[in-house]
Amino acid sequence: MERGTLILARKDVEEIISIDKTMKAVEAALKQEFEMPPKIYLTSPKGDFRAMPVHLGKYVEIKWVSVYPENKNKGLPTVIATIILNDAATSLPLAVMDGTLITNYRTGAIGGIASKYLARKSSKSLGLVGAGAQARTQLLAISRVFDLSEVRVYDLDEKKRETFAREMSQRISGNLLEANSIRECVSEADIVSTTTPSREPIVLDEWIQDGTHINAIGADAKGKEELDPKVFRRAKIVVDDIRQAVHGGEINVPIEKGIITERDVAGTIMEVVKGKKIRERRGDVTVFCSTGLAVQDVATAAMVYEEALKKGLGKRIELF
Ligand SMILES: NC(=O)c1ccc[n+]([C@@H]2O[C@H](COP(=O)([O-])OP(=O)(O)OC[C@H]3O[C@@H](n4cnc5c(N)ncnc54)[C@H](O)[C@@H]3O)[C@@H](O)[C@H]2O)c1
Repeated sequence: MERGTLILARKDVEEIISIDKTMKAVEAALKQEFEMPPKIYLTSPKGDFRAMPVHLGKYVEIKWVSVYPENKNKGLPTVIATIILNDAATSLPLAVMDGTLITNYRTGAIGGIASKYLARKSSKSLGLVGAGAQARTQLLAISRVFDLSEVRVYDLDEKKRETFAREMSQRISGNLLEANSIRECVSEADIVSTTTPSREPIVLDEWIQDGTHINAIGADAKGKEELDPKVFRRAKIVVDDIRQAVHGGEINVPIEKGIITERDVAGTIMEVVKGKKIRERRGDVTVFCSTGLAVQDVATAAMVYEEALKKGLGKRIELF
């Protein structure tokens, strides 16, 4: 029996990963049975760490991921993750890999999957609030599902917005425009993805047209929120995991303030991909609250590992 552990660096993951493969792996995993306790948080002086364990089929996996907002001033990613993939049959550590790129791709993938099931089929326009790492994969994934004619991007940081527009316009067929305000970015969008670390509502309810689908991606820890809670009075809410969503997802602050309760949640993304219908009328507003699931990570990590074995990528070491 092979005892070595495969070490996969970012460059190895980069050689394998794509948004199409990640969406396929994540969507298939959401339809399966898995065991996934809610992530646990550790607060440190400059940010936080999260441990995310899961068992899916023949794999057990854990991601150890940090969110350090000030890292951007040091030229480092704000999100850094390491993944350990174990064999469920023997517990042997099969691989240790960079999880940062996997986090970005699997987060984009779930935005694409949620949009596929929740947004109107005729959706043509996308508004991206935030122009960082997650916004890039949101755009890649959503443009695989919809033939987007117009994408608007807004970021507080003008340089980031410009760089995003320059880089990403090469990768989609529709027009990519820089918006001068969040209002301009979202008010004519069929689909909106919010990917900022905001701790106060920045997208106002009055700017959201009837029929819009929103992927609320940025809020993934207690106290974070991007949407005006008034939107929840008319929106159908889908969460990825109710325990995580109540603790740190987009609905955490509105629930804490008593504006909505858990009973206002219409379903989970797992129920949605298995056939639960959420949108009833064209004018319904839908909000997908993503906190990030370990099952997204293991589905993507397993796909990367299996392809790395076939391609002979990575470095094998004997850990014990
Ligand atoms: N749901 C998930 O699964 C998941 C996964 C990864 C990251 N996240 C969260 O998503 C958020 C973004 O992560 P990232 O990796 O893209 O970070 P990033 O630093 O690469 O990008 C965030 C961008 O938001 C911009 N921004 C900050 N405040 C803003 C505001 N008020 N208005 C407009 N733009 C603003 C910043 O200038 C930056 O460009 C973080 O909160 C992170 O914790 C969620």
